[in-house]
Formats: sequence, C-alpha cells, structure tokens
Amino acid sequence: MASAAASKASFLGGVEPSPPDPILGVSVAFRACDDPNKLNLGVGAYRTEELQPYVLEVVREAERRMIAAGHDKEYLPMQGLAEFCGATAELLLGKGHPAIAEKRVATIQSLSGTGSLRVGAAFIAKFLPGKAVYLPSPTWGNHKNILADSGVEWREYAYYDASTVGLDLAGFLKSIDDAQEGSIFMLHGCAHNPTGVDPTLAEWRQIADAMQKKNHVAFFDVAYQGFASGSLVEDAAAPRLFAEMGMEFFCAQSYSKNLGLYAERIGALNAVLNDATAATNTLSQMNRIARAMYSNPPVHGARIAATVINDPELFQARSRWNDEMGTMAGRIKTVRRELFEELTRLNPDKDWSFVTRQIGMFSFTGLSPAQVERMTGTHKIFMTKDGRISLAGLSSAKVKYLANAIDDSFRNA
Ligand SMILES: Cc1ncc(COP(=O)(O)O)c(C=O)c1O
Repeated sequence: MASAAASKASFLGGVEPSPPDPILGVSVAFRACDDPNKLNLGVGAYRTEELQPYVLEVVREAERRMIAAGHDKEYLPMQGLAEFCGATAELLLGKGHPAIAEKRVATIQSLSGTGSLRVGAAFIAKFLPGKAVYLPSPTWGNHKNILADSGVEWREYAYYDASTVGLDLAGFLKSIDDAQEGSIFMLHGCAHNPTGVDPTLAEWRQIADAMQKKNHVAFFDVAYQGFASGSLVEDAAAPRLFAEMGMEFFCAQSYSKNLGLYAERIGALNAVLNDATAATNTLSQMNRIARAMYSNPPVHGARIAATVINDPELFQARSRWNDEMGTMAGRIKTVRRELFEELTRLNPDKDWSFVTRQIGMFSFTGLSPAQVERMTGTHKIFMTKDGRISLAGLSSAKVKYLANAIDDSFRNA
C-alpha cells in the first residue's frame, strides 16, 4: 500500500521532465545497449587503445607527492589556490608575459571549463548588461545553456562551411563586421567543438584584426590546450596573439582533457586587461559572484594541476606531461589517419580529407540526422545527432567497423 505522502499531489507536480542532454544522453543510451559491438563516440573523454579511461602518470605522481605532504582540507579562498591561479595564467599566456608581470590579469579558479564559463557569463550579465554574446555556428551545445541560464542573450556567427567541411572565413569576417560595435565573441581557442575545424594562424590574424576594428571583445574557451596538437604553446597561439595585439579578453580554461582531470572540476576564468586597477576590481567582482554561486572551489584538482605545472621535471619542454599529452594527441591522430584510409578504400569517389584536416578529439562527419539514426539503430554506434564523433572513443581495432558503418549510412539512409 502506498504511504500517506505518496498518495498526495506534490507542489512540484507541474514540473515537466527536462529533455535529455544531447551529449550526456548519448552515454545513457550507450549503457542501456547490450550489443557487444557497440561503440560510444558521444562524449569527449580520452580512452586508451583498449577503450579504457586513462589517468596520467604525472597526475599519479602529483597525488603521491600531495599525500606525502599531508595537506589539510581547509577552505580555499574564493579565488582558489594561489599557486594554481598563477600557474594557469602562465600556461595560457607564457611565463613572464608582460600582462602577468604588470598585474593586468584577473584569474579565478573555478569549476572546470563549464563553471569558468558560467562565472564569466554571470559577470557579463552583471557588469555588461544588454550585451549579446556571439557563438560560432555550430558550437558546443552547453554554451547556449550557460548563457541562457545566466540571462545573457546569445546570437550566432558564421563559422563552418558544410560544402568544404572547413572554415567559412569570409562568413566569419562578415559576422564580425555586421555585429554591433563592442560585442562579445566566444572563440574556441583550439580544437573547435564539434567541428574540429580551426583557423590557421594567418586566419586568426585576420579575425583579430577585424575584431579590433570593431572594438569587439573575445571570450576564449580553451578546453583543449595541449590536447589538440600535443603542444601547450601551439594550442595557445590564438589568445597569445590577441594579448600581443593589446586586445582585452576573457578566457575560460579547463584541465579536464589535457590533464584528464574530468571529475576533479578544475579550471579557471581569466580577464586579460589593459589596466592593473581594472584587473584588481574585476577579480574582486568575480570572487563575489563565486561566493554566492558555490563560495569557493575544490582543492584537490587545483593542487594536482599546480604541482604538475609548477614542477620543472613534470612540466618543462620534453617533460613527462608533454610526453603524455603527445601520446594522447598522437593516438587520436593515428586513428584519424586510419579512418581516412579505410573510408577512402571503401568509397574512393568521396573526398574524406576533412577527417585528417580536422583537429582535436572530434570529427564532424557531415552525417545527416537520418544517417546518424542508422549509425546508432543499425550499427550500435552512439554519437550526437549533429554528426559529431569523438575519436578519443575509437581504437585502431574498431576503425574498420566504424568506417563500414559510416559508408553504409551515407549510402543507405
Ligand atoms: C568547447 C568546450 N568548452 C568547455 C568544455 C567544458 O568541459 P569541462 O567543464 O569538463 O571542463 C568542453 C567539454 O567538452 C568543451 O568541449
């Protein structure tokens, strides 16, 4: 018999269920499938060739040192761990960068990339009311949620050219020109998600010039530094170019992918400004936003990241972290090449070169929603509806299986 409470109506009885998250929902569907051939290419998390999660050796080493040091579990300040904040700004801009030396960078540790973007969006809502944020079309789905939940209007700018499966630079530049002076543009610092299509450095220069002319402000989302090319420096080229040109910008950073710290929720929000007083004041207001949102951030991931970044042996060029990032980025490049070769063998009449031109974890396949449905329904390959596949979830052993499914879905759906 139902309890007394269960037989009454709830005051939240009118709440409708939220639609499943388009990215995280893929993993739920994957887990529910019992086909032994199933493949999860939905979520952007690195897997080994055996398709197992990977904890970096430098992370294990940092944790061993942390246990030996016997840290307490006291609250961090609202800004986060000081060693981490310093290290993360240096990782973004380069050691000894003038903006850091001149105290023109406001950095707050936050809850990975998502939380850092969320604090940035709340800051925009509070201090730049009425300003819209322009997002690339397409973009990581959560950008829209984050801005909408913060009460910030978002619009889209041209980014992706479906006919070339490449960058629509002319469209991008036109969007910059058409936007109202002083608008905010969300820019993926590297490894654009979902397309894997990045501007070249020469194209970034054109983008920066056009933005500077219109006094637009960039909000960089750097979720893959070091993970795209295997080089922390190369993957930070875009924000470093903006800093070199004296352009002010926000930048959200994440350590989910490059240190594999997904569940530790470690990242940062930076405002790189022209003036030290503006940076001090901005930081105090970011702290105020964090205070009301979650008070102060978790310490464990911050200690790991700070240990790795600040330790010469774990960090320096040819360091163990670089080697491990090179291994992760390298495995993805290998399966990209293998997938390209297999698709070309199956259908030599189609140009598959976009697979190897794209960078980072993802490949935008150009599969239509109906074709994606065939990928999942017939072949048990789980992926997002927009045709994006995460190559981090693909092993060399599964390349043939995937290529066959893509070829079949292009031909028969
Ligand atoms: C473009 C982009 N931004 C931000 C994030 C945030 O990830 P996290 O909150 O795990 O750092 C992701 C993760 O997939 C991403 O792809």
